[in-house]
Amino acid sequence: MIDPDIRRASTLPGEFYGSEETYARVRESVLLRSWLFLAHREQVAGEGLYPCVLGAGSLDEPVVLSRTDALRCFSNVCTHRGAILLEQPCPAQNIRCRYHGRRFDPRGRFLSMPEFEGAEDFPSERDHLPEVRLGSWGPLIFASLDPAIEFAQWIAPLPAGLDSLAFAGERTYEVDASWALYCDNYLEGFHIPYVHPGLADALDYSEYRIETFDHASLQTGPAKDPSEPPAYYFFLFPATMVNVYPWGISLNVVEPLGVARTRIRFLTFVGDASKTSRASGDLHTVELEDEAIVASVQCGIRSRLYRRGRYSPSREIAVHHFHRLLSDYLSSGR
Ligand code: FES
Ligand SMILES: [Fe+2]
Repeated sequence: MIDPDIRRASTLPGEFYGSEETYARVRESVLLRSWLFLAHREQVAGEGLYPCVLGAGSLDEPVVLSRTDALRCFSNVCTHRGAILLEQPCPAQNIRCRYHGRRFDPRGRFLSMPEFEGAEDFPSERDHLPEVRLGSWGPLIFASLDPAIEFAQWIAPLPAGLDSLAFAGERTYEVDASWALYCDNYLEGFHIPYVHPGLADALDYSEYRIETFDHASLQTGPAKDPSEPPAYYFFLFPATMVNVYPWGISLNVVEPLGVARTRIRFLTFVGDASKTSRASGDLHTVELEDEAIVASVQCGIRSRLYRRGRYSPSREIAVHHFHRLLSDYLSSGR
Protein backbone atom coordinates (compact mmCIF):
# COMPACT_ATOMS: atom_id res chain seq x y z
CA MET A 1 0.00 0.00 0.00
CA ILE A 2 2.96 2.37 0.69
CA ASP A 3 5.87 2.21 -1.75
CA PRO A 4 9.12 1.52 0.17
CA ASP A 5 10.88 4.09 -2.03
CA ILE A 6 9.95 7.47 -0.61
CA ARG A 7 10.73 9.16 -3.92
CA ARG A 8 7.91 7.25 -5.57
CA ALA A 9 5.58 6.71 -2.63
CA SER A 10 2.19 8.30 -1.99
CA THR A 11 0.88 8.98 1.50
CA LEU A 12 -1.96 7.09 3.18
CA PRO A 13 -5.28 7.79 1.45
CA GLY A 14 -7.70 10.23 3.07
CA GLU A 15 -10.17 7.47 3.93
CA PHE A 16 -7.58 5.83 6.18
CA TYR A 17 -8.15 8.61 8.70
CA GLY A 18 -11.92 8.83 8.40
CA SER A 19 -13.24 5.29 8.15
CA GLU A 20 -14.84 3.43 11.07
CA GLU A 21 -13.90 0.14 9.49
CA THR A 22 -10.22 1.05 9.18
CA TYR A 23 -10.22 2.37 12.72
CA ALA A 24 -11.54 -0.98 14.02
CA ARG A 25 -8.90 -2.84 11.99
CA VAL A 26 -6.16 -0.59 13.36
CA ARG A 27 -7.33 -1.28 16.89
CA GLU A 28 -7.20 -5.05 16.46
CA SER A 29 -4.19 -5.33 14.15
CA VAL A 30 -1.98 -2.52 15.42
CA LEU A 31 -2.85 -1.45 18.98
CA LEU A 32 -3.51 -4.97 20.23
CA ARG A 33 -0.12 -6.10 18.93
CA SER A 34 1.87 -3.13 20.25
CA TRP A 35 3.55 -1.93 23.41
CA LEU A 36 1.51 0.80 25.06
CA PHE A 37 2.24 3.01 28.06
CA LEU A 38 0.54 1.68 31.18
CA ALA A 39 1.83 3.54 34.24
CA HIS A 40 4.89 5.23 35.64
CA ARG A 41 7.00 3.79 38.42
CA GLU A 42 5.90 6.18 41.14
CA GLN A 43 2.27 5.05 40.65
CA VAL A 44 3.23 1.56 41.79
CA ALA A 45 5.85 2.58 44.33
CA GLY A 46 4.76 0.33 47.19
CA GLU A 47 3.71 -3.32 47.36
CA GLY A 48 0.11 -3.62 46.29
CA LEU A 49 -2.41 -4.32 43.56
CA TYR A 50 -3.16 -1.48 41.17
CA PRO A 51 -6.07 -1.80 38.74
CA CYS A 52 -5.53 0.11 35.50
CA VAL A 53 -6.67 0.16 31.90
CA LEU A 54 -4.45 -0.75 28.97
CA GLY A 55 -5.24 1.27 25.87
CA ALA A 56 -7.79 3.55 27.55
CA GLY A 57 -10.34 4.65 24.95
CA SER A 58 -9.43 2.01 22.36
CA LEU A 59 -8.53 -1.46 23.68
CA ASP A 60 -9.97 -0.60 27.11
CA GLU A 61 -8.47 -3.72 28.61
CA PRO A 62 -8.87 -3.93 32.42
CA VAL A 63 -5.63 -5.16 33.98
CA VAL A 64 -3.96 -5.27 37.38
CA LEU A 65 -0.41 -4.16 38.00
CA SER A 66 0.75 -6.24 40.93
CA ARG A 67 3.81 -5.33 42.93
CA THR A 68 4.91 -8.11 45.26
CA ASP A 69 8.38 -9.65 45.00
CA ALA A 70 8.31 -8.54 41.37
CA LEU A 71 6.18 -6.38 39.13
CA ARG A 72 3.54 -8.35 37.21
CA CYS A 73 0.50 -7.61 35.14
CA PHE A 74 -2.58 -9.78 34.70
CA SER A 75 -6.20 -9.55 33.69
CA ASN A 76 -8.60 -7.76 36.03
CA VAL A 77 -11.47 -9.92 34.78
CA CYS A 78 -12.64 -12.92 36.81
CA THR A 79 -12.16 -16.21 34.98
CA HIS A 80 -15.59 -17.44 36.15
CA ARG A 81 -18.17 -15.21 34.49
CA GLY A 82 -16.21 -12.07 33.79
CA ALA A 83 -16.75 -9.71 36.72
CA ILE A 84 -14.21 -6.92 37.17
CA LEU A 85 -12.17 -7.91 40.21
CA LEU A 86 -10.55 -4.76 41.57
CA GLU A 87 -11.94 -1.25 41.35
CA GLN A 88 -9.39 0.41 43.65
CA PRO A 89 -5.73 -0.06 44.52
CA CYS A 90 -5.32 -2.31 47.55
CA PRO A 91 -2.57 -4.07 49.52
CA ALA A 92 -0.95 -7.13 47.95
CA GLN A 93 -3.41 -9.66 49.32
CA ASN A 94 -5.54 -12.46 47.93
CA ILE A 95 -8.25 -11.23 45.59
CA ARG A 96 -11.83 -12.36 46.09
CA CYS A 97 -14.34 -11.84 43.32
CA ARG A 98 -17.35 -10.02 44.70
CA TYR A 99 -19.74 -11.85 42.35
CA HIS A 100 -19.42 -15.52 43.44
CA GLY A 101 -16.38 -15.55 45.65
CA ARG A 102 -13.64 -17.00 43.41
CA ARG A 103 -10.24 -16.31 44.97
CA PHE A 104 -6.85 -15.58 43.40
CA ASP A 105 -3.44 -14.93 44.93
CA PRO A 106 -1.68 -11.57 44.43
CA ARG A 107 0.12 -13.04 41.41
CA GLY A 108 -3.18 -13.79 39.70
CA ARG A 109 -3.16 -17.55 40.33
CA PHE A 110 -6.47 -19.29 41.04
CA LEU A 111 -6.86 -20.32 44.70
CA SER A 112 -10.38 -21.51 45.36
CA MET A 113 -13.99 -21.42 44.26
CA PRO A 114 -17.12 -22.25 46.24
CA GLU A 115 -19.77 -24.72 45.00
CA PHE A 116 -17.64 -26.32 42.30
CA GLU A 117 -17.55 -29.86 43.69
CA GLY A 118 -18.16 -32.23 40.82
CA ALA A 119 -16.93 -29.87 38.09
CA GLU A 120 -14.62 -31.88 35.82
CA ASP A 121 -11.14 -30.79 34.84
CA PHE A 122 -11.34 -28.01 37.41
CA PRO A 123 -9.42 -26.00 38.31
CA SER A 124 -7.23 -25.88 35.22
CA GLU A 125 -4.67 -23.50 33.77
CA ARG A 126 -7.53 -21.53 32.26
CA ASP A 127 -8.75 -20.52 35.71
CA HIS A 128 -5.68 -18.40 36.51
CA LEU A 129 -5.87 -14.74 35.53
CA PRO A 130 -4.13 -14.42 32.14
CA GLU A 131 -0.76 -12.68 32.32
CA VAL A 132 -0.05 -9.54 30.35
CA ARG A 133 3.47 -8.83 29.12
CA LEU A 134 5.30 -5.92 30.76
CA GLY A 135 8.40 -3.92 29.96
CA SER A 136 9.97 -0.94 31.66
CA TRP A 137 12.36 1.80 30.67
CA GLY A 138 13.54 4.49 33.10
CA PRO A 139 10.43 5.57 35.03
CA LEU A 140 7.99 4.20 32.43
CA ILE A 141 6.07 0.90 32.41
CA PHE A 142 4.63 -0.48 29.18
CA ALA A 143 2.41 -3.48 28.49
CA SER A 144 1.17 -5.41 25.49
CA LEU A 145 -1.58 -7.98 25.01
CA ASP A 146 0.01 -9.70 22.02
CA PRO A 147 3.30 -8.02 21.11
CA ALA A 148 4.50 -8.31 17.52
CA ILE A 149 8.06 -7.58 18.67
CA GLU A 150 10.01 -8.07 21.88
CA PHE A 151 10.05 -5.16 24.32
CA ALA A 152 13.86 -4.99 24.35
CA GLN A 153 13.92 -4.55 20.60
CA TRP A 154 11.12 -1.98 20.66
CA ILE A 155 12.73 0.17 23.35
CA ALA A 156 16.33 -0.18 22.10
CA PRO A 157 16.54 3.20 20.30
CA LEU A 158 15.96 5.11 23.57
CA PRO A 159 19.03 6.13 25.56
CA ALA A 160 19.80 4.23 28.77
CA GLY A 161 20.56 5.77 32.14
CA LEU A 162 17.41 7.80 32.69
CA ASP A 163 16.27 5.75 35.69
CA SER A 164 16.50 8.55 38.20
CA LEU A 165 13.93 10.80 36.55
CA ALA A 166 11.13 11.90 38.89
CA PHE A 167 7.53 12.42 37.83
CA ALA A 168 6.77 16.14 37.67
CA GLY A 169 3.21 16.39 36.38
CA GLU A 170 0.68 15.53 33.72
CA ARG A 171 -1.39 17.58 31.33
CA THR A 172 -4.07 16.16 29.05
CA TYR A 173 -5.32 17.41 25.71
CA GLU A 174 -8.07 16.23 23.37
CA VAL A 175 -8.27 16.98 19.70
CA ASP A 176 -10.92 16.32 17.03
CA ALA A 177 -8.64 14.37 14.75
CA SER A 178 -7.45 10.86 14.05
CA TRP A 179 -4.66 9.64 16.32
CA ALA A 180 -2.64 8.82 13.20
CA LEU A 181 -2.88 12.39 11.91
CA TYR A 182 -1.57 13.55 15.26
CA CYS A 183 1.39 11.17 14.87
CA ASP A 184 1.99 12.18 11.24
CA ASN A 185 2.33 15.77 12.36
CA TYR A 186 4.71 14.88 15.18
CA LEU A 187 6.88 12.94 12.77
CA GLU A 188 8.04 15.86 10.70
CA GLY A 189 9.73 19.10 11.59
CA PHE A 190 8.85 20.31 8.10
CA HIS A 191 5.97 22.37 9.51
CA ILE A 192 7.98 24.03 12.29
CA PRO A 193 8.84 27.23 10.40
CA TYR A 194 5.20 27.58 9.28
CA VAL A 195 3.24 26.47 12.34
CA HIS A 196 5.54 27.17 15.31
CA PRO A 197 7.18 30.59 15.00
CA GLY A 198 8.37 30.52 18.63
CA LEU A 199 9.96 27.10 18.35
CA ALA A 200 11.46 28.01 14.97
CA ASP A 201 13.36 30.82 16.70
CA ALA A 202 15.03 28.36 19.07
CA LEU A 203 15.78 25.45 16.71
CA ASP A 204 18.27 25.34 13.89
CA TYR A 205 15.89 23.87 11.34
CA SER A 206 18.54 23.53 8.62
CA GLU A 207 20.38 21.02 10.86
CA TYR A 208 17.29 18.99 11.76
CA ARG A 209 18.10 15.26 11.43
CA ILE A 210 15.90 12.19 10.99
CA GLU A 211 16.82 8.55 11.65
CA THR A 212 14.63 5.50 11.48
CA PHE A 213 14.86 2.19 13.36
CA ASP A 214 12.83 -1.00 13.09
CA HIS A 215 9.80 0.29 15.03
CA ALA A 216 10.92 3.79 15.92
CA SER A 217 12.27 7.03 14.58
CA LEU A 218 14.35 9.83 15.99
CA GLN A 219 14.31 13.46 15.04
CA THR A 220 17.12 15.62 16.39
CA GLY A 221 16.55 19.34 16.62
CA PRO A 222 19.78 21.23 17.33
CA ALA A 223 19.36 24.53 19.14
CA LYS A 224 20.34 27.75 17.39
CA ASP A 225 22.39 28.62 20.42
CA PRO A 226 25.45 26.33 20.01
CA SER A 227 25.97 26.17 23.78
CA GLU A 228 22.63 24.36 24.17
CA PRO A 229 22.26 20.62 23.61
CA PRO A 230 19.77 19.45 20.97
CA ALA A 231 16.29 18.11 21.68
CA TYR A 232 15.68 14.47 20.74
CA TYR A 233 12.23 13.47 19.60
CA PHE A 234 11.78 9.70 19.74
CA PHE A 235 8.71 8.08 18.27
CA LEU A 236 8.02 4.48 19.26
CA PHE A 237 5.46 2.87 16.99
CA PRO A 238 2.53 3.21 17.16
CA ALA A 239 1.57 5.75 19.82
CA THR A 240 4.44 6.72 22.14
CA MET A 241 6.56 9.84 21.91
CA VAL A 242 9.52 10.47 24.19
CA ASN A 243 11.10 13.91 23.93
CA VAL A 244 14.48 14.06 25.61
CA TYR A 245 15.62 17.46 26.84
CA PRO A 246 18.59 18.48 29.00
CA TRP A 247 16.26 18.74 32.03
CA GLY A 248 14.48 15.40 31.59
CA ILE A 249 11.81 13.95 29.32
CA SER A 250 8.34 14.73 28.13
CA LEU A 251 6.33 11.60 27.38
CA ASN A 252 3.42 12.04 24.98
CA VAL A 253 0.97 9.17 25.14
CA VAL A 254 -1.39 9.19 22.17
CA GLU A 255 -4.74 7.59 23.04
CA PRO A 256 -7.19 7.04 20.17
CA LEU A 257 -10.75 7.63 21.40
CA GLY A 258 -12.50 7.12 18.07
CA VAL A 259 -12.03 7.70 14.35
CA ALA A 260 -11.60 11.44 14.76
CA ARG A 261 -11.03 11.97 18.45
CA THR A 262 -7.70 11.64 20.23
CA ARG A 263 -6.48 12.23 23.76
CA ILE A 264 -2.84 13.14 24.29
CA ARG A 265 -1.35 12.83 27.75
CA PHE A 266 1.83 14.84 28.40
CA LEU A 267 3.78 13.48 31.35
CA THR A 268 6.97 15.19 32.40
CA PHE A 269 9.83 13.56 34.27
CA VAL A 270 12.62 15.75 35.53
CA GLY A 271 16.23 14.85 36.19
CA ASP A 272 17.93 18.19 36.57
CA ALA A 273 15.39 21.01 36.81
CA SER A 274 18.14 23.65 36.71
CA LYS A 275 18.88 22.75 33.08
CA THR A 276 16.06 24.49 31.27
CA SER A 277 16.27 24.54 27.53
CA ARG A 278 14.88 26.81 24.89
CA ALA A 279 14.67 23.84 22.53
CA SER A 280 11.60 22.58 24.38
CA GLY A 281 9.93 25.90 23.63
CA ASP A 282 6.68 26.53 25.40
CA LEU A 283 5.22 23.01 25.23
CA HIS A 284 1.67 24.24 25.74
CA THR A 285 1.81 26.83 22.95
CA VAL A 286 3.42 24.36 20.56
CA GLU A 287 0.73 21.78 21.40
CA LEU A 288 -2.13 24.17 20.66
CA GLU A 289 -0.50 25.13 17.36
CA ASP A 290 -0.19 21.44 16.44
CA GLU A 291 -3.78 20.65 17.45
CA ALA A 292 -5.19 23.47 15.35
CA ILE A 293 -3.40 22.32 12.21
CA VAL A 294 -4.19 18.64 12.80
CA ALA A 295 -7.92 19.36 13.32
CA SER A 296 -7.85 21.33 10.09
CA VAL A 297 -6.27 18.39 8.27
CA GLN A 298 -8.97 16.08 9.65
CA CYS A 299 -11.54 18.26 7.86
CA GLY A 300 -9.39 18.38 4.74
CA ILE A 301 -8.88 14.66 4.30
CA ARG A 302 -12.67 14.12 4.22
CA SER A 303 -12.80 16.04 0.97
CA ARG A 304 -14.01 14.10 -2.05
CA LEU A 305 -11.40 15.98 -4.02
CA TYR A 306 -8.47 14.83 -1.89
CA ARG A 307 -6.96 11.42 -2.60
CA ARG A 308 -3.45 11.05 -1.27
CA GLY A 309 -0.31 13.15 -1.25
CA ARG A 310 3.43 12.68 -1.83
CA TYR A 311 6.33 12.80 0.62
CA SER A 312 9.23 15.20 0.81
CA PRO A 313 12.18 12.79 0.40
CA SER A 314 14.27 14.85 2.82
CA ARG A 315 11.73 16.05 5.40
CA GLU A 316 9.06 13.36 5.66
CA ILE A 317 11.20 10.24 6.11
CA ALA A 318 9.71 9.44 9.53
CA VAL A 319 6.13 9.96 8.29
CA HIS A 320 6.81 7.55 5.44
CA HIS A 321 8.31 5.06 7.88
CA PHE A 322 5.22 5.31 10.14
CA HIS A 323 2.85 4.81 7.20
CA ARG A 324 4.78 1.77 6.03
CA LEU A 325 4.55 0.17 9.47
CA LEU A 326 0.82 0.89 9.64
CA SER A 327 0.17 -0.60 6.26
CA ASP A 328 2.42 -3.62 7.02
CA TYR A 329 0.52 -4.35 10.22
CA LEU A 330 -2.82 -3.98 8.46
CA SER A 331 -1.94 -6.09 5.45
CA SER A 332 0.09 -8.92 6.94
CA GLY A 333 -0.90 -8.87 10.57
CA ARG A 334 2.81 -8.40 11.28
S1 FES B 1 -17.63 -13.88 38.13
FE1 FES B 1 -16.12 -14.03 39.63
S2 FES B 1 -16.78 -15.64 40.89
FE2 FES B 1 -18.32 -15.50 39.38
FE1 LIG C 1 4.42 20.65 15.55
